[in-house]
Parts: sequence; C-alpha cells; structure tokens
Amino acid sequence: MNDRVVVGISGGIAAFKSAALVSRLAQRGLDVTVVLTEAAQQFVGGATFAALCNRAPVTSAFDSRYPLGPHIELATDCKLLIIAPATAHMLASCALGTADCILSTLYLNMDCPVIFAPAMSTPMWEKPAVIRNVDQLKSDGAHFVGPDSGWLSCRRTGAGRMSEPDDIITACEPFLQ
Ligand SMILES: Cc1cc2nc3c(=O)[nH]c(=O)nc-3n(C[C@H](O)[C@H](O)[C@H](O)COP(=O)(O)O)c2cc1C
Repeated sequence: MNDRVVVGISGGIAAFKSAALVSRLAQRGLDVTVVLTEAAQQFVGGATFAALCNRAPVTSAFDSRYPLGPHIELATDCKLLIIAPATAHMLASCALGTADCILSTLYLNMDCPVIFAPAMSTPMWEKPAVIRNVDQLKSDGAHFVGPDSGWLSCRRTGAGRMSEPDDIITACEPFLQ
C-alpha cells in the first residue's frame, strides 16, 4: 500500500501553487488526499485536485465517503499532513485548537508530523498575534517551511510568500522516508 499524505489547503492566493505541490507528491507514488477549506474553494477548484489525486477533495467535516468523519479516517495511518498555504486564520485555528472546520479538526486528530507552509502579506506575517501562533505551533511540535521573501499578490515585495512546491517537498523529505 502506498504511503498516505494529506495536503490541507487554506484560503490564500498561494493556493494555486498547491496544485503543483500535489502533483509532485502524486508523481512520487504517494496516496494524496486534499482537504480544501471553504475559503480555499474561492481560489482553486476541486476538479483540479480530484484529477491530480484521483480522488475528490474533502471540503466538509461531513462527507458520506467517510462514515466515521474525515477527521478520523484521514488521520488513520497518515504519514504526513502538509498545510499549504497556511493562512493566518488557519495558524490561529490550529494554535488554539478550535476544530471549527474540517482542516483544523483534522489537525487536532493527527498524530503524524505536520508541516505548515504559511503565506500572507508582510504586515500579517509580522503581526505579534501571528508570531505568537507560530511559536505556539512550533512548541506543540509542528514544523514550518518558509515563508520566503519576494513578490506578493498585494503587489509588494517582502516576507510572506509561500515556499515553492519543490522547497516544500524538500522540507517533507525527512518525513517521507
Ligand atoms: C483576495 C484575497 C486573498 C487573500 N490572501 C490571503 C493570504 O495570502 N493569507 C492569509 O492568511 N489570508 C488571506 N486572505 C484572507 C483569508 O482568505 C481569510 O482569512 C479566510 O477566512 C481564511 O480562511 P481559512 O483559513 O479557513 O481558509 C485573503 C483574502 C482575499 C479576499
């Protein structure tokens, strides 16, 4: 059986780059399931990820394919959870343990490693509230890749750009051996 990984996509512009990330993971022979938050679906379409993974993405905490709940079934024997992009909101939800959407609920139920690839504007990334949430998640055992500095969709240059898919894969390598 192929190793199972979950890619959680929250609602930022960088979600378009997550299609390349998911494609690369699938090409490695990994069994990839995508979870899209409600906001993420404003940026990317489920059909893209259904084709890339050969499985429709999970978009709700209630999904008839998973009678025990996707937050339970997707966590079972999962090797790695990658949250890319991780919005400021998703970092806060996971840091606080709100379990108020499928992705933050799945995060709470995961006992495998979790990697966040944050993406947001520079003022958001530098805000004390976001820094506190990142520090909390790190001390809870989560891993981070990026963000990089560079061109941001708000038409400014600075910190907050989501790491490139290849760099996210490199950060995942230790957990995919
Ligand atoms: C055009 C647009 C772009 C956005 N980009 C980002 C982003 O890059 N990072 C971020 O943290 N929030 C961004 N947001 C705000 C999030 O979509 C919003 O906080 C949302 O509630 C996140 O929900 P989620 O974390 O459940 O996906 C953006 C909103 C809009 C309208």
